[in-house]
Amino acid sequence: MDTATTPATAVILVAAGSGQRLGYGMPKARVPLGGEPILMHALRGIVASGVASQVCVALPEGDGVLRALCDDFRTELVDGGPLLTLVDGGASRADSVRAAMAVLEPGTQAVLVHDAARALTPESVFQRVVEALAAGAKAVIPVIPVVDTVKTVQPTTGDGAAIAPELVTGTAHRETLRAVQTPQGFDLATLRRAHEGAAGFDASEAAAVTDDAMLVERLGVPVHAVRGASQSLKITTPLDLIIAEGLLEGPLGVRWVEG
Ligand code: C5P
Repeated sequence: MDTATTPATAVILVAAGSGQRLGYGMPKARVPLGGEPILMHALRGIVASGVASQVCVALPEGDGVLRALCDDFRTELVDGGPLLTLVDGGASRADSVRAAMAVLEPGTQAVLVHDAARALTPESVFQRVVEALAAGAKAVIPVIPVVDTVKTVQPTTGDGAAIAPELVTGTAHRETLRAVQTPQGFDLATLRRAHEGAAGFDASEAAAVTDDAMLVERLGVPVHAVRGASQSLKITTPLDLIIAEGLLEGPLGVRWVEG
């Protein structure tokens, strides 16, 4: 990709989550993976992809450990590398995205929003998203096919970990389903407009905003899907961490596992 002709592209790395489902008793971004915090894998992946003029990391408010790690990482960045900016995240993921958008450099035209929990996303996924934006799309998401049959239910709990039996209300047609990943790429003006509509959400409405593309869909702006990668899993549960460790230790190395 010719980065010299690519318009200024910021990457927002949202890393302000508590990581409760991982059960480590610390913010997920700090949990070690292959001997290094999850956040550092995500940061290195972004920089290696070469797509970012600025990387803005939303950190858990007041987390001095992660802030110090990012400050150290800044000293490793070479001349011509991205500007690294840190902000305190908010109560919801969408709040963290808005806090980061507020400090993007003037002149930024495109923005990618990436979950720090997707620490092993290959460079090629970043590049596919940026290429689709450069080709004129206003919103781009990486996706992978769904392997399970997916049903809708009347939930008995909100977190998907229900033990009580639930009533099945329907079966989705699998060929039309995709599992959605990050980085999600947007024309910055479009993403700002999409988030304006969500700024007044109450806590439960905000919690239901699980990605940025859904806010853009509400504007009626077309969202385009490009190929993601299975190793770009969102590290959420202890099992995900085991898989991610296995990918790092694999004989070919995680960057080759695409598919
Ligand atoms: O909890 P969830 O799976 O939605 O988190 C997705 C990503 O959003 C994680 O990388 C997490 O650190 C980030 N997040 C955030 N601010 C929050 C909640 C989540 O930056 N308040």
